[in-house]
Amino acid sequence: MKNRPIGIFDSGVGGLTVVKQIFKRLPNEEIVYLGDTARVPYGTKSPETIKKYSIENADFLMKFKVKIIVVACNTASSTSLDALRKKFSIPIVGVIKPGAEKAVQITRNNRVGIIGTYTTVKSKAYEKEIRHFSRDVEAVSKACPLFVPLVEEGWLKEDVTFDIVKKYLKPLMAKKIDTLILGCTHYPLLKPVISRVMGRHVKIVDSASSVADEVHNILMALGKLSEQKKPAHKFFATDTVEHFVRVGEKFLGTKIHRAERANYV
Ligand code: DGL
Repeated sequence: MKNRPIGIFDSGVGGLTVVKQIFKRLPNEEIVYLGDTARVPYGTKSPETIKKYSIENADFLMKFKVKIIVVACNTASSTSLDALRKKFSIPIVGVIKPGAEKAVQITRNNRVGIIGTYTTVKSKAYEKEIRHFSRDVEAVSKACPLFVPLVEEGWLKEDVTFDIVKKYLKPLMAKKIDTLILGCTHYPLLKPVISRVMGRHVKIVDSASSVADEVHNILMALGKLSEQKKPAHKFFATDTVEHFVRVGEKFLGTKIHRAERANYV
């Protein structure tokens, strides 16, 4: 049971930023990653559609007898956690709570900004979690839909990227936030430019590292931390694997030697 894999899914390649942090924090764990590249993006779709996709993705991961499922996608986490927890009895971890908790811990002026996809922002999932941890924190959110294609195109340092980031973040700067949650899988790759725009005094919370800590704590509490020395990971995509591997390696920061097509879509 201990050495069973951790299942992770995302709407596409972005969730590999979470895998990267899990590799660092939990090097003995075997990962089965699923990117739903055939149906990406989730960020512009309705909660009902995303719930349906999320359950299908989790059903696929369950075939590998995973001991825990990480919903690496912010949009799926903000809409589908309750439905997933109702259907599956293993622990289901989303990215919203760990990011919200960290932001509440580090804000000094109690003003926190959140950026994410349209659906994540509309769901107010981060605001609800923040309120759960503190009633004193004021949260403001902003959808930044152009960030995902910019990152997938690899435009991380271009002038045009700086200008777009500045335009989206201006209203958050006006609110004098001192902490900003990157509420989307893709945004950690834009961290340097986001920091440059917001200024050094604004602390950036990247949910990917907070979620790796949360997974570690859950597995430790359950006595299910793996003892494998060389875990063999598996990567799946619901559309062609070539694109998944090429773009995915940028997110993971290492080579993806083998990826397979998941054929249930
Ligand atoms: N993975 C999504 C998220 O974190 C971003 C890409 C999409 O819209 O599907 O919200």
